[in-house]
Amino acid sequence: MSAHKILVLHGPNLNLLGTRQPEIYGHETLDDINNRLYEKAAVNGWEIACRQSNHEGELIDAIQAARTDGTDLIVINPAAYSHTSVAILDALNAYEGRVIEVHLSNIHKRETFRHHSYVSHRADGVIAGLGSRGYLLALDTLD
Ligand code: DQA
Repeated sequence: MSAHKILVLHGPNLNLLGTRQPEIYGHETLDDINNRLYEKAAVNGWEIACRQSNHEGELIDAIQAARTDGTDLIVINPAAYSHTSVAILDALNAYEGRVIEVHLSNIHKRETFRHHSYVSHRADGVIAGLGSRGYLLALDTLD
């Protein structure tokens, strides 16, 4: 078992999970998802922090902080910023650890404006369409 430090970042509107379009995003709340991630990390002896922000700059600040605080994995659901944010891509490009991009829904099955993600230009892996399991699977990429 190796020690890992993980940052999970949830982008805009994901604070509304559970009540936001549950037919697309499911009935679990963000706390439900984060609690499962905290449990999985605890079982494996990993350090984990889960953060959500509706603000692009706050997500960028969190990514920048991860460059120097020993974080070796960022799991990020950039939500709508996936499709718009060169700034988040640039921040991730300046981070040297592993990046896994997660989407609850299969963005490729939805409107065409969701098919492109700037973050995918940097992500080491992308998981889409598996609901909240995607976040747990992202942690499975750790040795
Ligand atoms: C999402 C997909 C995005 O297109 C959307 O803007 C979101 C959530 C997902 O998890 O499926 O807010 O990232």
